[in-house]
Amino acid sequence: MQVAVIGAGYVGLVTAAGLASLGHQVALAEADASRLLALESGEVPIYENGLVELVKWGRDAGRLTYHASNPEAVKGAELVLLCLPTPAGVDGRADLSYVRGVIDELALALDPKARFVIKSTVPPGTAVELNKRLANLGSDAAVISHPEFLREGSAVHDFLHPDRIVIGAHDEADVKAVASLYDSLATEMIATDPTSAEMVKYASNSYLAARLTFANTLANLCEAVGADIVDVLDGVGLDHRIGPHFLKPGPGYGGSCFPKDTLALIGVAEDAGYDFRLLKAVIDADDEQRRRVADKVKLAAGGGLRGRKVAVWGVAFKAGTDDVRESPASRIARLLVSDGADVVAYDPEGRDPDLRHVDSALEAVEGADVLLVATEWPEFSRVDLTEVARRMRGYRVVDARNLLDPRLVRKAGLDYLGLGRPKA
Ligand code: UDX
Repeated sequence: MQVAVIGAGYVGLVTAAGLASLGHQVALAEADASRLLALESGEVPIYENGLVELVKWGRDAGRLTYHASNPEAVKGAELVLLCLPTPAGVDGRADLSYVRGVIDELALALDPKARFVIKSTVPPGTAVELNKRLANLGSDAAVISHPEFLREGSAVHDFLHPDRIVIGAHDEADVKAVASLYDSLATEMIATDPTSAEMVKYASNSYLAARLTFANTLANLCEAVGADIVDVLDGVGLDHRIGPHFLKPGPGYGGSCFPKDTLALIGVAEDAGYDFRLLKAVIDADDEQRRRVADKVKLAAGGGLRGRKVAVWGVAFKAGTDDVRESPASRIARLLVSDGADVVAYDPEGRDPDLRHVDSALEAVEGADVLLVATEWPEFSRVDLTEVARRMRGYRVVDARNLLDPRLVRKAGLDYLGLGRPKA
């Protein structure tokens, strides 16, 4: 099928290259001239496992073309996938100006029978609103809701092996058109109305955020009562109604989706006259988690951070990505800086321009009073701990990901402080 993808950001680029690999002819439009230039010169401006190869394959096969102009990209396309940013506005509500702008621009440019498909995360009711907008502009193109669930770091894998495909449309032919994009993938398909499809995305992200915030707050309670969160969650996760996934305590959630989508859903609820107190409590507890980790580092440094050197391993919001947006790791590092610490950060991929970075985990611990493990990069668990102990000035390790083996840390002569774990 011939499709257009509008927006070569994270979702758009993976979706475009993924659809090309499934045999479709994909025209990808990007408004940012420098990003387009980078793409045309063979660069892939996102760190994502397998994406370079997938994009190259699409380009070499002639299945993936790049365009500066949206109207040019949609020529001949049966489906026009909108992969545009929907950032949090001032009040936390999703800002739909990019989506509306492109709908206005393309309303009358689509081929007859072509459809808009919204991949961006948009509040429930958006497709319905955009359908009315199109009708007012004199277009009868349908707007189909088709949320994406890609995780950063494993987006290509997630695209090719989705847990489910969700399609929200009123017309069965619209559902079939989108479903046919994935004929070659064996996966669960949910067809529903557009508003419910939009809600699936917010509900999934908010549930996951709540679930891991539950694990984080439970870890705090385990510390208070002297239980070990790792064993507790092993026991909890074995209940088949709960399952073991997404239960690892950490410094809080980050990235481009959870912080934005939880806030946006509260806005959606408020607009609908519903007070979503549970989700508000999740956001509060998540904010508190970062401060708790920073306080733990402060305590490990002897109660104050002025004049103390803190090595921070990891600034990316999670392992497997260079993304530092809303990263709890970099937020905590900045809190430490504002508390007076001399912070030296190392991350294999991520860079926070406001922090001092060095090129290796061992370089970071040179002369450090405290080591904070803030992102769960596997390479951190392979660092020679005896060498870490030799290079540090102090001896305390705060492991905000429960990544290191406490026995090995202690064996190296260091003091281990995890999350929700017994002290010794
Ligand atoms: C998320 C959703 O999973 C994805 O479906 C959606 O499309 C975009 O948002 P992503 O932001 O890439 O994906 O990250 P994810 O792997 O879900 O992790 C989110 C946050 O939760 C990270 O900060 C991560 O460190 C944290 N997390 C996750 C934990 O602290 N513990 C866990 O057990 C799992």
